[in-house]
Amino acid sequence: MRIFALSDIHVDFELNMHWLGKLSSCDYINDTLILAGDVCDEIDRLQKALSILRAKFANIFFVPGNHDLWLRRKECNDSIEKFRLILELCREIDIKTVPEKITESNSNNGVWIIPLFSWYMKPEDGRGSLFIQKPGEDPSLPMWSDNHYIKWPVLNDYKTIADYFLKMNEKYIHKKYDLPVITFSHFLPREEMMFSEDRKKDLVRLAKFDRNPSFNFSRVAGCSKIDEQIRQLGSTIHIYGHQHRNKDRLIDNVRYISHCLGYPHERQTGRIYGIEQGVKLIWDTSKDFPFQDEFEESY
Ligand SMILES: [Fe+2]
Ligand SMILES: [Fe+2]
Repeated sequence: MRIFALSDIHVDFELNMHWLGKLSSCDYINDTLILAGDVCDEIDRLQKALSILRAKFANIFFVPGNHDLWLRRKECNDSIEKFRLILELCREIDIKTVPEKITESNSNNGVWIIPLFSWYMKPEDGRGSLFIQKPGEDPSLPMWSDNHYIKWPVLNDYKTIADYFLKMNEKYIHKKYDLPVITFSHFLPREEMMFSEDRKKDLVRLAKFDRNPSFNFSRVAGCSKIDEQIRQLGSTIHIYGHQHRNKDRLIDNVRYISHCLGYPHERQTGRIYGIEQGVKLIWDTSKDFPFQDEFEESY
């Protein structure tokens, strides 16, 4: 039994839709794909991309990312309504958005795959933000498209939108799982994931080559409360997306993996790492786990 990871396929780029179409139609027919958000804000294209993948894999698990909830075409009144619409669409085309046990045929050998809905916490949202100060930044994030295309309804019972999404996961947190647990979210669960293991080198490189000196990604990267849920669930592997910087790292006994397709220009300029292999194998019952010798990362 094999499980693969992928995220941020952004099929509003025709090249990315083409990339999906070129994935083998026979290699994965018994396999499972975890798709960690950011497919497309255009609902017909999102459905087309999910259907292409559905035809190639035995199972697809998915959580929406921020781009999926953009309202550029006024198809919904707000982004929660769009979130619900996407979940309904997933139900119709057999894409899984709730926890499920995946086992090998004729055996109890398998895993639980648990989607975690999430959103990022900005520094003003309080505990849980992954914010790190950056000299010269513009805190209003004028170039961040979510500020223009995401619209939330009034949610009186929740302090932040991140809390609203995390609350949806709670009913799954304290259940007993009889097989290893694999979790996934669109957003980053830990501050460390924004950097490679040599953070000092990253910061030196960023100071030299920062194309957007006023933009501070850590304001919109993720939320450490996702990691609290990952830990409560006893997760073995956590898949995430959003940053478009692919990584594979073990921290405190959880393997964190990001495998984004990203934008064509990010691949052309070498900022997306490892995607030429296609979808990333993260679990294979015919091999020893957890493939420590295959760990790779980039920034
Ligand atoms: Fe993305
Ligand atoms: Fe994203």
